[in-house]
Amino acid sequence: MSTPAYSPGLEGIVAGETAICTVEGGLSYRGYAVGDLAEHCSFDEVAHLLLHGELPNAAQLKAFQTRVAAARRLPPPLKDLLAALPKWTVPLDALRTAVSALGHFDQDAADNSRDANLRKAERLLAQIPVVIADYYRVVKGLPEVQARQDLSHAANFLYMLRGGEATPQEVKALDVSLILYAEHEFNASTFAARVIVSTLSDLHSGITGAIGALKGPLHGGANEKVMDILQAAGAPEHAETWTRSALFRKERIMGFGHRVYKTGDVRAGILKAYARAAAEAAGETKWEDTADAIERVMAAEKNMFPNLDWPAGRLYHAMKLEIPLFTPIFAMSRVAGWSAHVIEQLDKNRLIRPRALYAGPAARAVTPLAHRA
Ligand code: ACO
Repeated sequence: MSTPAYSPGLEGIVAGETAICTVEGGLSYRGYAVGDLAEHCSFDEVAHLLLHGELPNAAQLKAFQTRVAAARRLPPPLKDLLAALPKWTVPLDALRTAVSALGHFDQDAADNSRDANLRKAERLLAQIPVVIADYYRVVKGLPEVQARQDLSHAANFLYMLRGGEATPQEVKALDVSLILYAEHEFNASTFAARVIVSTLSDLHSGITGAIGALKGPLHGGANEKVMDILQAAGAPEHAETWTRSALFRKERIMGFGHRVYKTGDVRAGILKAYARAAAEAAGETKWEDTADAIERVMAAEKNMFPNLDWPAGRLYHAMKLEIPLFTPIFAMSRVAGWSAHVIEQLDKNRLIRPRALYAGPAARAVTPLAHRA
């Protein structure tokens, strides 16, 4: 057997084929540049593109939105389960548990056909925001808010969370962030989902595993750390000194750096304008100015640039969304990309089973127990 090629963290390794997304020549979903999608489309259109392969026409979009809106409800036993979770359960953990539980109630759970997986994916797309909003309200002792069928993915989520309609500017800003979060090739959570279903496991298992992978602060969890960084820096006038000392202490500035993008993340540039506009609307631009100062030091000292989590954390904060909701919001968007990858993997499946470079003891004989020291 020949020695396999090895790259720590699989950096630079091509681990499969996909027609869903590429980062080559700028990030695009199914051939459309992400900037064009953010400018001209809604998240609902982009979710259709990812799941069904094409941007919808008006009739297709209406049918898709109607199907998704009709699925915006949870089985009553799941509501009881959410209410019974220990109150210290963070929302992303509650979501991971809920997605696993939703598999028990889905009539297509055991059917791994393409059509059944599309039906399950549309239902999960609908149910995930309901789980996040319901759990948020149950922990706070607030009454449940019924989903609205007439609102978009972004608008309905804000409505269910707050119990009142959001402004058009808020809906647009959240919607753009969801478009930018929706898909990103073979990132850790998507790859985890593909590994899981490559064993011919099912979609709910794949998405449950993906949520677990998203949680970590090196991946989706980073958007919840952004406000910690800004609050530690304190204010624009202290940000330069604070950042230099943090780098001296070898700390990571969450929201900066990327495994693939070494000269900047186009998504961060797009969302930055929305973060500042939301901060201005809230009458508090201190964190935007602090962020700008940190960006200058990171570029000068480390040649390192913001990733999408950097403006997303600030945008959600300016919209008065609570920090533990930030990574769940990422998940309510990325479920579109995860599901598209699960379906693509199963369309042309080969078990994902790489090799390891052995770094353990050399071959040795077993000493029987009675003779071991
Ligand atoms: N702040 C300070 N230094 C950093 C940062 C950072 N954010 N990111 C990387 N570095 C440094 C490392 O300390 C390391 O320095 P060294 O060579 O002196 O030891 C060097 O850059 C390389 O770091 P690696 O972790 O090996 O690079 P990798 O490509 O694996 O990292 C990652 C990518 C994990 C995203 C990293 O940049 C990071 O930890 N960023 C902060 C977390 C974050 O924002 N994650 C979100 C990713 S994007 C997303 O999920 C939407």
